[in-house]
Amino acid sequence: MTLVLRDKASLRAWRAKVTEGTRLGFVPTMGALHEGHMSLMARAREAADLVIASIFVNPLQFGPNEDLSRYPRPIEADIDKLEAAGVDALFLPSVEDMYPQGASTLVEETLVSGPLCGAVRPGHFRGVTTVVLKLFNLVQPHVAVFGQKDAQQCAVIERMVRDLDVPVEILRGPIVREADGLALSSRNVYLSAEDRAAAPLLHKSLEAVAEAYAAGEHDTEKLAQIGLSVLARSERIKAQYWEVRDPESLGAIATVGMRGALLAVAAYLGTTRLIDNLVIGPEG
Ligand code: PAF
Repeated sequence: MTLVLRDKASLRAWRAKVTEGTRLGFVPTMGALHEGHMSLMARAREAADLVIASIFVNPLQFGPNEDLSRYPRPIEADIDKLEAAGVDALFLPSVEDMYPQGASTLVEETLVSGPLCGAVRPGHFRGVTTVVLKLFNLVQPHVAVFGQKDAQQCAVIERMVRDLDVPVEILRGPIVREADGLALSSRNVYLSAEDRAAAPLLHKSLEAVAEAYAAGEHDTEKLAQIGLSVLARSERIKAQYWEVRDPESLGAIATVGMRGALLAVAAYLGTTRLIDNLVIGPEG
């Protein structure tokens, strides 16, 4: 039975009863749960004695022209999935409870947040770090699990935890894909049939670049061009970025060296924005 905690006060009361020595695992989400999320719940279950998830569509991480109002919120179905997965508790706060009137503090990571999604979604990662630190303070988990699908988000949160001495271990759960390679995302439900048919090209572009790298191409400009040329096979896809970056700092690199690289792509299909990534290397 998943206990649903609908405000901070009930969460705090629940947390106070978690006994010393019990390892608490936490999976923060925005709901619309799919198999990717459920694999994170399973990872948390492996790493902890007790598992709590949160569902909170965080307004702070959406830009003014983004999909906050239409973001899917199938809460009853989500609770059923958490029950079936044996998740012990769900924190399901309201916006008013999380951000009381007059809240004026934001948490900002200033390096890893800069490129890729940070460059095209100003303020997005500040919204993520603010809510995630609040959630960590409230839940006080020993371990928290985030999906590698949002590789930059993982890197930003790892930095924040390191820099602010937050006492939590961060685990990354691998990307879960459809049979045709499309990475699972809550936003896939927005895709028209035609856009859904074109969407696996994101993953194909990552694979093509990984192959080119394995065949000896290490120049990051050339690798990114190969990725873009695969996306160009469909007129429905409007690439936003296709980049090869340092896997940890996400800084720009001219060639892929011993540290390997993060291949990262963002593209629009209609009005739906999808992201995907793949880590290549490191060698030796
Ligand atoms: O990845 C998400 O679903 C969100 O960015 C997160 C981490 C739950 C913060 O709102």
